Amino acid sequence: MQRDTLVFDLIHQELERQRHGIELIASENFTSLQVMQAMGGVMTNKYAEGYPGRRYYAGCEIVDQTEQLAIDRLKQIFNVEYANVQPHSGAQANAAIALAVLQPGDITLGLDLSMGGHLTHGSPVNYSGKLYNAHFYGVVKETGLVDYEMLESQARTLKPKLIICGASAYSRDWDYKRIRAVADEVGALVWADIAHPAGLIAKGLLNSPFEHCHVVSSTTHKTLRGPRGGVIMLGKDFENPFGLKDNKGNVRMMSNLIDLAVFPGTQGGPLQHVIAAKAIAFGEILTDEFMVYQQQVQKNAQAMAKAFMDKEYNIISGGTDNHLMLIDLRNKNISGKKAEQALVKADITANKNMVPFDDKSAFITSGIRFGVAAVTTRGMVESDMQFVVNAIDRVLLNADSETEIATVKKQVNEFMGQFILYPEL
Ligand SMILES: Cc1ncc(COP(=O)(O)O)c(C=O)c1O
Repeated sequence: MQRDTLVFDLIHQELERQRHGIELIASENFTSLQVMQAMGGVMTNKYAEGYPGRRYYAGCEIVDQTEQLAIDRLKQIFNVEYANVQPHSGAQANAAIALAVLQPGDITLGLDLSMGGHLTHGSPVNYSGKLYNAHFYGVVKETGLVDYEMLESQARTLKPKLIICGASAYSRDWDYKRIRAVADEVGALVWADIAHPAGLIAKGLLNSPFEHCHVVSSTTHKTLRGPRGGVIMLGKDFENPFGLKDNKGNVRMMSNLIDLAVFPGTQGGPLQHVIAAKAIAFGEILTDEFMVYQQQVQKNAQAMAKAFMDKEYNIISGGTDNHLMLIDLRNKNISGKKAEQALVKADITANKNMVPFDDKSAFITSGIRFGVAAVTTRGMVESDMQFVVNAIDRVLLNADSETEIATVKKQVNEFMGQFILYPEL
């Protein structure tokens, strides 16, 4: 077979783009080289439907060991009783949780997408809004903080089967204890989707959901800095509350329902190359080095938020506890869409985002979301945040000037030259 230079040239161009630009998309990061190597390795060839020690295919003795390592390390990271590392993505993990605990038409209560929630938490364009009777809580207009009173009153009125916490564009920590209290009152299960802040939670820098939430999902590629993928965890396994029994008449445990909901419920063969990469990433997360990284993520986010506020940018909720921030650009007279487009021309990548109570569509938006997990991996510290914010500000103030943007792009490319990315490649 001839080498496909067309595709490899494009992969090389993508590497160069990543090297030269400032990556501020809050859901992205740069994995270690060994994580990438595992993903490009021979385990991609292996079919392994089932779970370690109970597969539907022969020849799984070795992938059983990598998968078991991934499970054991993930359990150790979060100090939990159960972990499933097979979901192909965050959305797949979430689909499996819904399948495990809900029947079509059941009522769910999650954070509204337009207030920072995620598509899989009940959006009408997603299976979660089509199959289930999805309702929402929001944030308080004045503070930008989760409206716990609204959550509680919605829960008492609607009596949902499942309350969902966690978000894609929310910069503050969560009060899981308060959510569990109302869930117990109305007989709901609580699910935390920690896709974004998982790395900070892993190192104890944010509240842990495990004590209070029945089930927890995450992606592995954001602050956890692993390969693209999803995971599901239970702090403590428990008897399923729906009375389901196995064929011996024993009540099925929740872990059993989740395993079945991942495979065969929503997936076929697991991605064993990605699971090997997850095992490596989880090993990295267990190190002290990763603690230093996460602390730096938090410091960088706070330094960036301060630099923006010094320039009179309006950060929703007035700051950040985690790795990201959402900025309302309405006082700067530029839409999220235009800001995103101007920034990318200067090799600064970020994504437009609706802000709470936005008067613009999801396609245009009034906001933009910035995250620092990726630039922190590149080696940036607090003092670098001033350069980044100055560059962004200059682009946004001169969004119609090609020459100004070209000047910023040159400065950005020079600046990024000092933060070496994948020198081996
Ligand atoms: C809160 C949350 N959950 C789930 C997902 C979905 O993850 P994936 O893109 O891997 O399907 C995301 C992705 O951004 C997210 O922010």
